Amino acid sequence: MEAAPSSPDRSAPREVATAPIPTPYGEFLAHAFASSAGRVHLALVCGEIGDGGSVLTRVHSECLTGDTLGSLRCDCGVQLRSALRTVAAEGRGVVLYVDGHGSRGTGLVDELRVHVGAGADPVGADPVPGPDGDLRDYGDPAAVLRSLGVRSVRLLSNNPAKAAGLREHGVAVESLQPLGTEANRHNRAHLDTQRARLGHLRSTGRQPDELPAAPVDVGGLLGPLCEHAHRPHVVLKYAQTLDGRIATRTGDARWISGAAERQLSHAMRAGCDAVLVGAGTLLQDDPQLTVRMVPGASPVRVVLDSALRTPLTAKVLSDDAATVVLCRSDADPARRRALESAGATVRDVPAGPDGLRIDEALRLLRSIGIASLLVEGGSRVITSLLRAAVVDRLVVSLSPTIIGAGVEAVGPLGVDRVADGIRLVRRSVVLAGDDVLTVFDVAGAVPRER
Ligand SMILES: NC(=O)c1ccc[n+]([C@@H]2O[C@H](COP(=O)([O-])OP(=O)(O)OC[C@H]3O[C@@H](n4cnc5c(N)ncnc54)[C@H](OP(=O)(O)O)[C@@H]3O)[C@@H](O)[C@H]2O)c1
Repeated sequence: MEAAPSSPDRSAPREVATAPIPTPYGEFLAHAFASSAGRVHLALVCGEIGDGGSVLTRVHSECLTGDTLGSLRCDCGVQLRSALRTVAAEGRGVVLYVDGHGSRGTGLVDELRVHVGAGADPVGADPVPGPDGDLRDYGDPAAVLRSLGVRSVRLLSNNPAKAAGLREHGVAVESLQPLGTEANRHNRAHLDTQRARLGHLRSTGRQPDELPAAPVDVGGLLGPLCEHAHRPHVVLKYAQTLDGRIATRTGDARWISGAAERQLSHAMRAGCDAVLVGAGTLLQDDPQLTVRMVPGASPVRVVLDSALRTPLTAKVLSDDAATVVLCRSDADPARRRALESAGATVRDVPAGPDGLRIDEALRLLRSIGIASLLVEGGSRVITSLLRAAVVDRLVVSLSPTIIGAGVEAVGPLGVDRVADGIRLVRRSVVLAGDDVLTVFDVAGAVPRER
């Protein structure tokens, strides 16, 4: 870092260093400002501030657990990355990382209390009385923005109180531009509370231009969580043509559903602890299985792969999410080591009639903390799960395409009479572009409200 000139206003934070920081979203020039209270705020500036008008700006309250550790109990880390991406895409703006604003100004210990203890209620968990327990002062952020030459901002935030706090300190906030994030089972209640009690905007929101015209509560698609002692809540999801195929006879499935439906799939991934496919889908489609089409955290990716056929170049091994490959204990040790070197966790599961034993695979996943699992196919895995009676919820998307003979979604279940079929209850229907999603609970699954 090179030294930078200090600010003439002695009470305001002084600029102490600058350095270019290349991020996955683009290059920012970082300006470090030291406050008289010993805080160091970091302003990441993209492009030229120019006349300082209408600068796209994020004033981000530091959150060690969310930003750095990727905690799923809040959406801070996702918002930070979303802000960096949004500002970089605009080519001009500021992401100001504010030191000392953790847990709305009450510090790391209370951040942990909110996350680990009272959890769902960011207001009730605050130990210090104040306006909604919020101790954040916007004097330093306002002074930093002034030092950078910012005259007015379009504020990237869901929190109207932040706009008010900056205005109190003389920042002209032209508008509040929400940063919607997809909720997961760990932060849904927390985000709902922020919206209900603190007036946050679209805390479980989505980008209106990108998602289907009729907004969908993805929590509604995933359903209430069923608590099982020995397996996760399982949501089975696939996209089929109107004639019931999930791929053509050559195995091609790109894309059966439209972009709006696929965005919902990404939102469902963000809502679950893990997403699972079989080796067949991995080899045929090479899916990445991360959350990319909506702002949200990627789940753990799980592959059922008895003989470790997963190629070392598979996208599922990308380092932007964790990957667990389940295999038989006699799988090639060299392949195992190679996959582990590529970043995957490889775990043994006993063999069963269709590959790996489904009950044991699910038991293992539950034992490593996975309480909700989205299964995205393919055909053999769908069939195994339905046959093993471990599906809680079924989300089938119907696309306006007919392709004739191809890969059927569900193989033989040994059902000879319609009356013996798997009964589906509590139907709902969601429209996504030209696709129709039908959503059912499997009869017998006992949900608990999330
Ligand atoms: N439209 C959609 O929504 C969608 C979604 C996904 C896939 N697809 C399509 O589905 C096709 C792939 O279907 P698929 O049946 O070949 O693949 P799959 O169900 O993803 O994978 C099946 C493989 O998983 C492994 N496996 C391990 N344990 C298993 C168990 N208990 N039950 C079932 N499988 C187990 C087996 O391989 P090992 O013996 O090597 O372990 C098995 O051959 C592709 O054409 C793909 O494009 C469509």
